[in-house]
Amino acid sequence: MSTIALSINNKAIGPIETSDDVMMIEFLHEHLNMTGTKFGCGVGVCHACTVIVDNEDGTSESVRTCINGVSRFNGKKIRTIEGHAKENEFGEIIKLSPVQETFIENFSFQCGWCTSGFVNETTVLVEKLKLMPIRVNEIETVIEKALGDHVCRCTGYVKYYKAVKELILSTEGLTRP
Ligand code: FES
Ligand code: FES
Repeated sequence: MSTIALSINNKAIGPIETSDDVMMIEFLHEHLNMTGTKFGCGVGVCHACTVIVDNEDGTSESVRTCINGVSRFNGKKIRTIEGHAKENEFGEIIKLSPVQETFIENFSFQCGWCTSGFVNETTVLVEKLKLMPIRVNEIETVIEKALGDHVCRCTGYVKYYKAVKELILSTEGLTRP
């Protein structure tokens, strides 16, 4: 057993005692009742279970929760799909994040199983580009590199990639001449 404490979506969680072999996705689902992170392949291939880890240096990274035990996240700050939209004091969603909005506007997903992973990965990408803008002619390559490991069984990826491209082009500071 180990005792873990972490921050999820800016909320302190724990200390909680868990078994050492519990994967993070199981911890989210079974201990915290946070089911927005989806379990796809369970072996690290589809990336549906991706969450965001915020590093001390201000950078963020995507991490798969089906192949990483909960102890890896001890003391970390993470973000899950439940933390992207803005809520009012009653817990009602009042504003989606720009990434969520662009996926909806572009009809990017159908069943939505892969969507939380795409939202988290794209959010990490946008945050990276804020620090390191790219040239417009690099957009497709950068999107493919960032999202290429995410599997979607429904939509054929075109509308996801189109949405991300639109978001990058319409957000000030993500591209440079
Ligand atoms: S469920 Fe984690 S990579 Fe597929
Ligand atoms: S929308 Fe169904 S798996 Fe991607």
